[in-house]
Amino acid sequence: MTVRLADYAPPSHLIEHVDLSFRLDPQATRVLSTIRFVPNPAAPSATLRLNGEGLTLIAASIDDAPIADVPDATGLSLTVPPHPFTFRAEVEISPATNTALEGLYMSNGMYCTQCEAEGFRKITFYPDRPDVMAPFRVRIEGDLPVRLSNGDEVAPGEWHDPWPKPAYLFALVAGDLVAHSDRFVTRSGRDVALNIWVRKGDEDRCAYAMDALKRSMAWDERVYGREYDLSVFNIVAVDDFNMGAMENKGLNIFNSKYVLARPETATDEDFARIEAIIAHEYFHNWTGNRITCRDWFQLCLKEGLTVFRDQQFSSDERGEGVKRIEDVLTLRARQFREDAGPLSHPVRPAEYEEINNFYTATIYEKGAEVIRMLRLLVGPEAYDRALDLYFTRHDGQACTIEDWLTVFEDATGRDLTQFARWYTEAGTPAVTMSEAWQDGKLTLTLTQAAPAMVIPVAIGLLAPDGAEVLPTTVLEMTEAEQSFTFDAPTRPVVSALRGFSAPVLLSRPDAPEERAFLLAHDSDPFTRWEAGRSLGKSVMANVILGDGVSTKWLDALARLTTDASLDPAFRALSLRLPAEDDMARTLAAAGTVPDPEALHAARGRMAQALAERLADDLADLCAPVPGAWSPDAGQAGRRALRMQALALHSRLDGGAVAQQVFDRADNMTEEVGALTALLEVGVTAAADTFLSRWRHDRLVMDKWFTLNVLHAKDAPAVVADLIRHPLFDAANPNRFRAVFGALAANHAGFHRADGAGYRLMADALIALDPVNPQTAARVSSAFEGVAIYDAARQARMREELQRIAVTPGLSTDLREMVARMLKDRRN
Ligand code: TRP
Ligand code: ZN
Repeated sequence: MTVRLADYAPPSHLIEHVDLSFRLDPQATRVLSTIRFVPNPAAPSATLRLNGEGLTLIAASIDDAPIADVPDATGLSLTVPPHPFTFRAEVEISPATNTALEGLYMSNGMYCTQCEAEGFRKITFYPDRPDVMAPFRVRIEGDLPVRLSNGDEVAPGEWHDPWPKPAYLFALVAGDLVAHSDRFVTRSGRDVALNIWVRKGDEDRCAYAMDALKRSMAWDERVYGREYDLSVFNIVAVDDFNMGAMENKGLNIFNSKYVLARPETATDEDFARIEAIIAHEYFHNWTGNRITCRDWFQLCLKEGLTVFRDQQFSSDERGEGVKRIEDVLTLRARQFREDAGPLSHPVRPAEYEEINNFYTATIYEKGAEVIRMLRLLVGPEAYDRALDLYFTRHDGQACTIEDWLTVFEDATGRDLTQFARWYTEAGTPAVTMSEAWQDGKLTLTLTQAAPAMVIPVAIGLLAPDGAEVLPTTVLEMTEAEQSFTFDAPTRPVVSALRGFSAPVLLSRPDAPEERAFLLAHDSDPFTRWEAGRSLGKSVMANVILGDGVSTKWLDALARLTTDASLDPAFRALSLRLPAEDDMARTLAAAGTVPDPEALHAARGRMAQALAERLADDLADLCAPVPGAWSPDAGQAGRRALRMQALALHSRLDGGAVAQQVFDRADNMTEEVGALTALLEVGVTAAADTFLSRWRHDRLVMDKWFTLNVLHAKDAPAVVADLIRHPLFDAANPNRFRAVFGALAANHAGFHRADGAGYRLMADALIALDPVNPQTAARVSSAFEGVAIYDAARQARMREELQRIAVTPGLSTDLREMVARMLKDRRN
């Protein structure tokens, strides 16, 4: 059934108070609810529709009079009195058999919940929509020692959350858990107990997440003026979880992968992800919980803003330049890819079949980019004023994107009518820039397609000696074609789209010398890195056509890599060659059908040439990172550069040095880095060593599965083997993704010409769908690139999509995804 934004209607009833009692039992949990309903004067109705799915109704009453109404497959319709009334219900559910991991389910003997977006209806009958908010009181009965819910604990196993919230923020956890505890005193003096709850044995992996939480709390006070509002903040780590984490009020639930870390088991990237996700969920307390969404079409109101906030936080904690490059890499790899294919949709969609399919890179990452542009356009002070107004005006409300934009209009006096197109137009805008230099003046001409968007294009101008003659200046594009003129007695070099000031595809006349110049001199880290990236892409395109690897490119990259005055993290990023999937889309956009095998071979030749060019420097670059291990950005950057160098070195010595690093590694970054270097040159014995070292560690074993697939010469063959491995468990989303996410990420392997990669993927999705439709649907986006490949590959992919589509009993989740991808017939 299609849900449309245009059909939004306010709720017929509001809720004054909710009281829940849980009698926990694996197969037969009883949920007793007492809900005080009040007619909504804005939408009076004699009937009330409650959502409810998979519930066994034991008894229900209105004002103590039993009701005879019988639920249907999606809920319960009640005839109700025209005044406030109390609805009571008792239902039975079976958490132990809930493999979809939505609603109340079990993970390793522990009870936990996931209610966003529409999981609460699997717990009890309720108006499961975000614009119905209520304070909750929750009692948890059962023999498990730790019983948690939202808010403050008022008696053992009894919780009260005074802040009215929608049902999607409800959470319950019960288990035999231990806490890593700490405290935080807010700036107004509130003493907050902080706990990270984990399974016994994991206590020694919580310190970093706790540190990140305290830094997040302090940062939100300092930068946004936002304080925490309860006496306790609980985090629980769960092994079986569909997504990264969930911002339930006062009780965040995390995929254990994004909490648990110590240097021996987690890589620097893991530490950075943990820091960002801890911050993200904590920041939701204001942007999501205190101010929530009116309906799910407004999802970017909380997600885009909260991603933007977590990006700002990581940027402050770790360094702006490198963080921005990493964010752009993710944006292009995930969101540009999504926007270029059949799953493209606006930041605020107008319709959906299954809301779970819209927790996308577009809502999250592009949603954050839109706010970044808004901040750039109005300036940081006006942005702060607008946010203050947003928090005071809308605290306690369920809001829309219109509310958000109105706040900015009121705070800044700016008309945002045209800017609002960023929320309603799908697709990545293409911008062209051309330049003319005459009579001491430089004229830049920018064009874009209709409907014209507001596009901030940040530029700088450099003199031939590299000096900056025009510091960063924001050109505001609002029309299809616009020219901007600058005084320039000598012809400058233009550094354009500094800081990636807008999520667009910028094309400029091909000028390799200028890009080499920018790579050597640009003061903006993003455009400097981007110059190297686009040079790398044109080299790759030529290598595919049979050219040798450009020595100019090799020289430029070698100079940068060995320049000790540059940040090692920046050098490591610059050394990373363009990903094959990214390159495939770049070729397709230029009208060339990508050949995955040729692409893979070309990338390998570039790496080999780079290794040979850097041969004299690699030993130095592979030297151990000095000082005691620490997770900070400085050390992480040095390790990243070292691991890049190690991978190149292996191409020259067959992995001898990598083997030494692998054998001596005392941290997971270097262990994984060395193993990667070995696997890339075909030394697979180290993978067996890794397995015997780590077979009892679930999170580390996920890495083992991923690395085996990601660096396989023949990924389908390896996957076919691994899914028979005793430690493979398709029902665990982390393990499923470790294998099938990696299959999709191994570009040449997934797109093997005989279709074996496609077939394995489809088989896995068909098998997973009845168990866990959400994860099956998310992983199915492996096929979203279908239309850019050759006719034979397209036919094979469509055949597999078709095979999924006709599977009896397919979930709405996977059905919607597959139908959208099958519609894509551009070639
Ligand atoms: N709101 C969560 C976040 O962004 C996302 C999330 C967690 C989610 N679990 C989910 C979304 C399950 C859909 C389904 O932090
Ligand atoms: Zn979020």
